[in-house]
Amino acid sequence: MKQLVIAIDGYSSCGKSTTAKAVAALLHYAYVDTGAMYRGVTLYLLEQGIAFDDLPGIEQALRDISISFRRNRRTGRNELFLNGVNREDDIRQMRISNSVSEVSVIPMVRHAMVAQQQRMGRKRGVVMDGRDIGTTVFPDAEVKIFMTAEVELRAKRRQDELAEKGEIVPLDDIIENLRKRDHLDSTRAESPLRRAPDAVLLDTTHITISEQVDFVLDRVSSAL
Ligand code: C5P
Repeated sequence: MKQLVIAIDGYSSCGKSTTAKAVAALLHYAYVDTGAMYRGVTLYLLEQGIAFDDLPGIEQALRDISISFRRNRRTGRNELFLNGVNREDDIRQMRISNSVSEVSVIPMVRHAMVAQQQRMGRKRGVVMDGRDIGTTVFPDAEVKIFMTAEVELRAKRRQDELAEKGEIVPLDDIIENLRKRDHLDSTRAESPLRRAPDAVLLDTTHITISEQVDFVLDRVSSAL
């Protein structure tokens, strides 16, 4: 059967990754969480004490970093490995969420991540979620979805996810973080968060995960 690229972009915490993972599992496609890659770079820079305006330091860091995903057989989750070490839990912490949009704005970082993402999807048969997949990474994706939802609902979802991992964060802090990231992500010069002209809008405020998955699968059927 024809192998597609399915690009799922949109605002932070709209349910992109939950939907993307479910679609990938149903279609037996690979799943790439591109936000995790920017989070991995951010974690590395913070741990190495490399300032976000130290361009030579960042250039060297990008040479030293290896980012990959491995499937956890027990949970079925794709987890992020940074230089061979599982850092999946660390990259989800608020301290990373608070800095990641300052790192993802750096053109050199974007070029390195976009090139790796294009390599990961070159055989197609992939669901990729992020901010610029349908516009920059795979402008020729056969299916493009742009997800949005009310910010309070997105923040509540993110708060529940963090609480499950033992990090208790006030709702207002999360709302502020989501607003700030959406603003930085949408206004940066290099591949900003933007709906591709041919992307279909999906507002997830009032629909369930299974309805989101069905919506994407409908688009897939039309593209096959
Ligand atoms: O998807 P997630 O919320 O984990 O993404 C974290 C951050 O990574 C985003 O707020 C954005 O700054 C950056 N990002 C990006 N381009 C992508 C995916 C994520 O700039 N394709």
